[in-house]
Amino acid sequence: MAVEQTLSIIKPDGVEKNVIGECFRRFEKGGLKIIATKMVHLDQAKAEGFYAVHKERPFFASLVKFMTRGPVVISVLEGENAIQKNRDIMGATNPAEAAEGTIRKDFASNIEENTAHGSDGPDTAKFEIGYFFDAGEIHSR
Ligand code: CMP
Repeated sequence: MAVEQTLSIIKPDGVEKNVIGECFRRFEKGGLKIIATKMVHLDQAKAEGFYAVHKERPFFASLVKFMTRGPVVISVLEGENAIQKNRDIMGATNPAEAAEGTIRKDFASNIEENTAHGSDGPDTAKFEIGYFFDAGEIHSR
């Protein structure tokens, strides 16, 4: 298994619910290291660019509105198999289908306001990390 890096976003609903530390605790307990992190209030252009792959989806405008309604916490997580590990810690996109003990099961309101984002593969992770962080802001350790 390879050491990977993946992008995590604690979305506006997660920040509003004050579960930043709880999400970080689950990442660390799950064997992931936070090697970069910052709080950002995304503007419309930045959110649209991040989710550009979904721009034809019916939920795109609503998703961008949600992601810009308040600050988010964006992090780079590192560890063995980090991409899948983070997705396991988050649970299914739809909290109604998420496993017990996952972030989305415990904190998400619905399929859109689902508390956390994680990269879904190596290429996506590379794009997403570069979209938010310069190399000098990432502290692999
Ligand atoms: P995320 O993992 O960040 O990737 C795309 C996001 O779009 C997803 O989490 C949800 O926030 C949102 N999303 C996915 N499917 C739907 C849907 N059917 N309706 C509304 N929002 C959705």
